[in-house]
Amino acid sequence: MSAQRKVGVLISGRGSNLGALIAAKDAPYDIVLVISNIADAGGLDKARDAGIATKVIPHAGKTREAFDAELDAALRASGVELVCLAGFMRILSDGFARAWEGKLINIHPSLLPSYKGTRVHERVIEARETQSGASVHFVVPELDAGPVIAQATVPVHPDDSPDDLAARVLAAEHQLYPAALRMLADGKVRLKSGMAVFS
Ligand code: GAR
Repeated sequence: MSAQRKVGVLISGRGSNLGALIAAKDAPYDIVLVISNIADAGGLDKARDAGIATKVIPHAGKTREAFDAELDAALRASGVELVCLAGFMRILSDGFARAWEGKLINIHPSLLPSYKGTRVHERVIEARETQSGASVHFVVPELDAGPVIAQATVPVHPDDSPDDLAARVLAAEHQLYPAALRMLADGKVRLKSGMAVFS
């Protein structure tokens, strides 16, 4: 069997996607480090409970580049090969995105390229969409614009509140993210010439 890929996960909040990545059975990866920019992020407890090293790197009072340099140094010191953003609510610098190109993925709660950015579920409902979903994509310098690796679709019901829709999308995310990371760790998808290439 080939070696497990070493994964770092960046979070800012409750970390339910982190929990799904940790819980995946027979995964071809080991999560070796979880970093949060928020000291009391709930996901840090999930990591600690699983025996995974954690680090808090506050962003306040730092330039984006200085903050990202700390992230980069911590990831490299832990031997991280692949980085997952899982509810990490900071925009990364172009330099960080380029340094980790092809090794850095994000999960976003919409069917990209539709509904990039924030307030996704509110905007989907306002637009009376009948479908929404989640996307895992390679991170590139432009926000939420990188090539998509995998998507999951869920229905939008006419009486959905944003919270209803968020919960339905989140359940789909918990299936999607481990599956997409597995593909990347197994070398079944890679970033080439700005495109996701599958084999
Ligand atoms: C998830 O819905 C994720 O898609 C979203 O934040 C939530 C984090 O939940 N990410 C973004 O909106 C990134 N732009 P979690 O902390 O429970 O995994």
